[in-house]
Amino acid sequence: FRAWRGLIEEYRDRLPVSETTPVVTLLEGGTPLIPARRVSRLTGCDVHLKVEGLNPTGSFKDRGMTVAISKAVEEGAKAVICASTGNTSASAAAYAVRAGLACAVLVPRGKIAMGKLAQALVHGARLLQVEGSFDDCLEMTRKLAENYPIALVNSVNPHRLQGQKTAAFEIVDALGDAPDVHCIPVGNAGNISAYWMGYKEYADDGVATRRPRMLGFQASGAAPLVGGAPVTHPQTIATAIRIGNPASWRLAEAARDESGGDIQAVTDRQIAAAYKLLAQEEGVFVELASAASVAGLLQAHKQGLLTPGQRVVCTVTGNGLKDPDWAISGAPSPMTIPVDAFAAASALELA
Ligand code: F0G
Repeated sequence: FRAWRGLIEEYRDRLPVSETTPVVTLLEGGTPLIPARRVSRLTGCDVHLKVEGLNPTGSFKDRGMTVAISKAVEEGAKAVICASTGNTSASAAAYAVRAGLACAVLVPRGKIAMGKLAQALVHGARLLQVEGSFDDCLEMTRKLAENYPIALVNSVNPHRLQGQKTAAFEIVDALGDAPDVHCIPVGNAGNISAYWMGYKEYADDGVATRRPRMLGFQASGAAPLVGGAPVTHPQTIATAIRIGNPASWRLAEAARDESGGDIQAVTDRQIAAAYKLLAQEEGVFVELASAASVAGLLQAHKQGLLTPGQRVVCTVTGNGLKDPDWAISGAPSPMTIPVDAFAAASALELA
């Protein structure tokens, strides 16, 4: 047994670091690839979930952040900034603490899940709630990073995608080769681009014999890559991917086209159904945006895009605990009973 050392140490030779780069890590990565029995039965495929909610701050963002923050420290930054729908800000706040950097975050007011807000605040980030969208926040942070001594750690920072590509390495390392199909939620479009980079790199170096078809899924009210034009007022219950003008637009299109894949829309209703399916049939609690990958896989199955027996990986990007409000509002409200075992028995219909 050898303990996991965090993804920079595990994949050092494939990342933009040298012996002198100060490694800022919370031992992210090394997340489980869980067989999804129910989803496999529904699709006739061999489906696995890459459970990114088990990273240190509860989302895949930690992969990009360990590299981005390490490089920021190496380059002499004293402060970092990001725009976020919640997960990037949670991760930036935690890694900034680890590095001794100040951290500022801009979020769309009222549009981020409570757990994510809690994370940024508890780690001591300077959090500003902007009366606008994520896209507005990103534009503002780009301007701030241009004009003031503060380093941008959104995925327009290329170090972020370098870190995030390691998820594809882990999948190939676990399965022995690349899957046939990879399903992933798409918001600002950094992650689909990063996975494609990782899969290509492993195939180019002969570690994998093939590359998967990349299937990306946006929420239908926030699907600029599907419509081919920015969406001015994106709407979806999946606040993490409520984005109208993705920064990695071209890279995501390249991932789609080079892999023979597709980027499709799934409705909020499909997302909510997949969220419930994962929780109640697989025992995996993800956030709404994460369920878009599974909602999309079920849709692709209906469209006849899959061949029975194919190996499929769905990335589930964030932890369900991030958004307790949604989980509770969708469940029946619990009964209150007196201190009485018989009352419990009758409430549970045991008696
Ligand atoms: N899933 C979750 C849980 C996310 O938080 C995000 C992005 C995505 C999927 C989409 O990934 O942007 O690389 O296409 N969240 C960003 C944030 C925008 O600020 O936390 P993407």
